[in-house]
This record gives sequence, structure tokens and C-alpha cells, in this order.
Amino acid sequence: MILKDSEYTIQGIPVTSLVREYGSPLFVYDASVIDRQIKRIKNAFSGFPNRINYAAKALTNKGVLAHVRGHKLGLDVVSVNELRMGLDAGFDADQILFTSNSVSFEEIEEALTLGVKVNIDSLSLLEAFGKRYGGGKPCSIRLKLDPLVEHHEGSREWHSHSKFGIHHSRIDDIKALEQEHEMNIVGLHVHNSSSFLDIPVYLETAERMFSIARQFPGLEFIDFGGGITIPFYPGHEVIDVDELGRRMEVQVQEFYKDYGNEPRIWFEPGRFLVSECGVLLTQVTVLKGDRDLPYAGTNTGFNHLIRPKMYNAYHDILNVSNPLASKKKYHITGNMCETDFLAQNREISEIREGDLLAIKNAGAYGACMASNYNSRVRPAEVLIREGKMHLVRKRETYEDLVRNQPGVDW
Ligand SMILES: Cc1ncc(COP(=O)(O)O)c(C=O)c1O
Repeated sequence: MILKDSEYTIQGIPVTSLVREYGSPLFVYDASVIDRQIKRIKNAFSGFPNRINYAAKALTNKGVLAHVRGHKLGLDVVSVNELRMGLDAGFDADQILFTSNSVSFEEIEEALTLGVKVNIDSLSLLEAFGKRYGGGKPCSIRLKLDPLVEHHEGSREWHSHSKFGIHHSRIDDIKALEQEHEMNIVGLHVHNSSSFLDIPVYLETAERMFSIARQFPGLEFIDFGGGITIPFYPGHEVIDVDELGRRMEVQVQEFYKDYGNEPRIWFEPGRFLVSECGVLLTQVTVLKGDRDLPYAGTNTGFNHLIRPKMYNAYHDILNVSNPLASKKKYHITGNMCETDFLAQNREISEIREGDLLAIKNAGAYGACMASNYNSRVRPAEVLIREGKMHLVRKRETYEDLVRNQPGVDW
């Protein structure tokens, strides 16, 4: 989003015209920002054989998936429906890794019948997989490594209770199952943080994975999951991906020296690729407040963007209608029947009722985590690609809300 002559535009399209065309609230994605981020991450890891699998859960939309596929990325999916969407968007099954958790073996089998590789995250599923397929089908193993250091507040505590993956202390059990069923384990996987802020922590995880990998000869890939973030708030110091790439290259080449073959290094970025491409446009419906700061109430809420409520996440907010006005402090709220701050004590260009606000960095974990709470419909989504707007999801209607509720007559 660029501000020029007091008007915000995306690829030359005035932001206000998007709302005139599609209404508000509205999610808008700038495909050129996705392109930029893909290029950045590909460049950063170009020093060793790699594969970038887009984490479809971050922004799960067929239009966006098809755009990403054009860059020849692979895909990380978490459910069979996400997998189907990836196939519908044109991804080949062999470009997709199915990493689910707490699922039944039936769901794993369903994914396999669609032709993808599965990443197994519990010993019981591994045993079931071994018994059913032996060495007939390749699989990978999702590991859980206890973090050695805190990489963001509460992360160690969170990880020590994490439900994901097979704990690294159970490698012997994995090996025993592998031998018993002559399994074909082709990959190791870890997703150790949703927000790595420290390169040494990342490298430490990589080192531990390489050391575990030595017990699994002939791997095709080692997958480091997602967790590379973009700066969300002022002063948010994030990993420099180029530096991470350079330092990982040294480690990877060292590992290749005595491993035997050269497994590809996989990454599954979500937020890094699609956070910054998205804005949630919302109208200010009400301004109120006497003793306290003014509250600007909007026509969205945590039903559309749950991150501020769920994670206390910071999203920059701009006043698209009044960009050059002097700044004042506001609480920005949604219209849910619960306290739902989108921002507190936030300096924003003076807000008037009816103004259009843009909530930035709303591409990742925005629309895909939206709900119908309070029987409000989910917004439309528009992708701007090569200077043109494309409606990639229609706004829901009342009919959508009641479609799956059988009529009653009592
Ligand atoms: C297994 C796995 N891979 C990749 C991701 C994407 O993470 P991020 O959006 O932080 O890059 C996630 C996020 O939850 C995940 O669980």
C-alpha cells in the first residue's frame, strides 16, 4: 500500500475504490508482495539444495494458492481439505507434504490415496503406518525437540508442553519400528517455533536435526518447518533471512561431508510469505468515549482477525480516509459482543465516523481463521495481480449461514 497525493493505492488501484466495488470489511492481498517474499526466501537459501513449501494454513485460498504455485513452490498442508484445495489450485501431489496432528489413521490413508507424502507425528501412527505399508510407502517423521533456550517470551514453557511431533528422546523407538516393519523413512521434520527471533537458536535446532539425521541414512529431505517472521510492531527485530541462509549453508555443507548423500533442506514458510501482502479494510461505524480515550468501533472484529485477541498480536492500523490529518490516540474495537480490541492506545491520523481503516499485515492467519461468531458473515477477499483486482472469495450471505441447518418445523 503506497501513499501518494493523500491517497493510498495498491498496484495503482485506490484502496477506497476497492471498498466501493466489493464493500467492507474486505481482505485485500497484493500479489506483488507475495512475489517479493518468495524471491527473498529463495535467494536466502540458494546456497544449498532446498525446497520451499508454502504453509497453506496461513492463507488458504485457491486464488492465492494458484498464484503461489506459479512460483514452483511445494505445499505444506495440515488437513485433507487443505490438501484438496492445493490439488484444485494445480499443485502436483508429489509437491505436497501432509503434516497433520491428532488425526485418525483413516485420515492419513485418505491423504495417501490422494498421492501425497505424509509426515507422521506420533509413535502409534508410525506403528500403524509400518504395519499397513511396511517399506511400500515412504514417510517422514515430525520430531519434537525441547528448546534449549527461550526464543520469545514463554516459548520454552510452551514447547515443553507442545503436543506436536515425536519427542527426540524416542528416537530408539522410531528406529525399532523402522527396523521391525522395514519402513522407508525419507524425511525428518521439525517446526520448533512460530516466531524465530534469533539465528543461533535456529542454527542450534538445525545442528540437532543433522545429528539425529545421521541415525537415518539415505534421507531425501530434512524439513525445518515455518516460523520465520516479518516485523509486526515498531522495534520488532526479526531474523535476517539472508544471514540465516549464509550461516545455514556452512552447516549444511558440513553435514553433507560425512552423511553419504545430500538430502534437500525444506522450509515451510507461512507468515513470511503472506503476512505483509494483506490488509483488512474496515469502516469506522461509531466513535465514542468521554473520560477515556476515544473508541473507534468498526464493522469487523475478532470474528475476522483473531490474532490481536488470541495472541495479543500487534497490527499496524492506518486511516485510509484521512491520512494526512494529525495523529491522535484511539482504542480500535470490533463489533463483537465481547471486548475485542484490535488496537489500544494507538496513534492514528484523526478518525471520523465513516472513515476507512486499513489493518496491515493481515494476510497470514487472518481470513483463514475467521468465524461466523455473532452470526456475522465472513468478508470477501480480493487479490490484486498484475494491476488487476480479482475476487478470490465472495462475501458470505445470510443464506450461507443457514445453508447447513436443516429446516425445523416443531
Ligand atoms: C508444521 C508447520 N509448518 C509451517 C508452519 C508455518 O509457520 P509460519 O507461518 O510461522 O511460517 C506451521 C504453523 O503453524 C506449522 O505448524
